[in-house]
Amino acid sequence: MKSAPWWKEATIYQIYPRSFFDSNGDGEGDLPGVTSQLDYVKSLGVDAIWLSPFYTSPNKDGGYDVANPRDVDPRFGNLEDAKELIAQAHQRNLRVIADIVPNHFSDQHEWFQAALKAGRGSKERERFHFYDANEDGTPPNNWISLFGGPSWTQVTDGQFYLHLFDSSQPDLNWENPEVNADFEKTLRFWIDLGVDGFRIDVAHGLIKEDVLTNHSDPQGLSNALRLDVAMDSEVRNALLLTVPYFDRQGVHEIYRKWRKLFDSYGEREIMAVAEAWVHPPVNATRYVRADELHQVFNFDLLTAEFDSRVLFDVVERSISLNATVNALPTWALSNHDSPRVASRIGEEQARALALFVFGLPGSAYVFAGQELGLPDGQLQDSDRQDPTFFRTNGQIKGRDGARVPLPWSGNTTPFGFSTGKPWLPISQSWRDLTVESELADPKSSLHLYRNALELRKEFLVGAGGITWLESCNHGSKGDSLLSYTRGGVTVVMNLSDSANECDADGRLLIVSGGTVDARDGKKVIPARSTAWFLT
Ligand code: GLC
Ligand code: CA
Repeated sequence: MKSAPWWKEATIYQIYPRSFFDSNGDGEGDLPGVTSQLDYVKSLGVDAIWLSPFYTSPNKDGGYDVANPRDVDPRFGNLEDAKELIAQAHQRNLRVIADIVPNHFSDQHEWFQAALKAGRGSKERERFHFYDANEDGTPPNNWISLFGGPSWTQVTDGQFYLHLFDSSQPDLNWENPEVNADFEKTLRFWIDLGVDGFRIDVAHGLIKEDVLTNHSDPQGLSNALRLDVAMDSEVRNALLLTVPYFDRQGVHEIYRKWRKLFDSYGEREIMAVAEAWVHPPVNATRYVRADELHQVFNFDLLTAEFDSRVLFDVVERSISLNATVNALPTWALSNHDSPRVASRIGEEQARALALFVFGLPGSAYVFAGQELGLPDGQLQDSDRQDPTFFRTNGQIKGRDGARVPLPWSGNTTPFGFSTGKPWLPISQSWRDLTVESELADPKSSLHLYRNALELRKEFLVGAGGITWLESCNHGSKGDSLLSYTRGGVTVVMNLSDSANECDADGRLLIVSGGTVDARDGKKVIPARSTAWFLT
């Protein structure tokens, strides 16, 4: 029998290159820096790395504003460095996933520069969404950018162009076949250079509908799309059904074409994972139908409360929805766009949740620094770089906190990340969170991740579905404990602030914090902790 493809239940480590390791002292991480730390990455027990963009870019949005998708930005190195990184990763049996950004280019891309010059009605403008102003001079519609402010910017001849994100990120017109042809060229370019897969940025955004129609509640919609704006869930869900620029049917045609391209590389098993924020949740499964992409991110755990009912629902729903298209879910607790999990739900809770998730079927994504238990960096407004901060006049702080560089070694900031001044300051309070210091402490988060990922491989990958356990004292959906069995392993998470008994069988494999005692033949699970037992 053919073994499962490599990505099926892979653990994938997300590297934000600018924040990982600086090889040349300019204060910014780079590709040679990543290469130099691949032994560390390998030692975590992950199967692949996903690199956030390192392409030529003016870096207005952390490199998600791409000026040349087939070259490396000098701040990160050059194409030879990329090749070397891929080769070194492969030598260690680590796969490499590149980030592709098809929704928009940077305004510095030669296509956009040509469109500005060529003027209205030109072929060059048809690669983007250029329209005339309304008669009263206002933009073609009232959409609000996801980074705040209008979605339209006017050029000198009076036309407006659409940008769902920053004004430096003009959206591409995917109705124009030239756009797809160029992206297929880019996909092949990186596959030929050796990458094993792609993370597709804003995969749900490529096709727009009703571009000349106003939305009935643009501000409501803008709030509904923001994870940091609280809103009644019914109101939010109703608004999310009305997004004219997300999750249109046409996007699936694009991924069907791409799938054929990936499959044409046969045994290389090229994979792709979609960043698709869609509603209702069942729509996400469309991206992973057999003839489309391989995985779609499940973002529920980036916002879910540390509550057994909530987590039960998320896990159950994700597994069962994916099963309808014969796919496995993905799990992510943190990424470069959201608050770090240790800050959001607490350090111990973050460890417990990670261990809970590593037992589940599907692929687990780990954002670099998560294994160290890093919190969000504390930043001054003067340090901030996220365009969201500027486009909302500082009202929304943005995502820089999750992007503070990693602390590696030593006792003083910047902890070996760079010999220069890091692009975002690293707090002296991270002294005990460096790789070096956690390696020396067997109880550290780093050791927990390494041990858990090893055990995951040994006992859980490929072990099939889960069975929720009703037998622990509060039942599967109770308020304190949430537990399941998978393969021969029983996973019990205690979400409460006190220790709880549970009659799980088997010998203890690992616990995320504290010690598991035995009492009257039962196991006592420490507060805010997860344990695995092997029967
Ligand atoms: C995705 C990226 C995010 C970026 C945005 C625009 O959501 O993850 O970092 O700002 O796309 O490209
Ligand atoms: Ca550097």
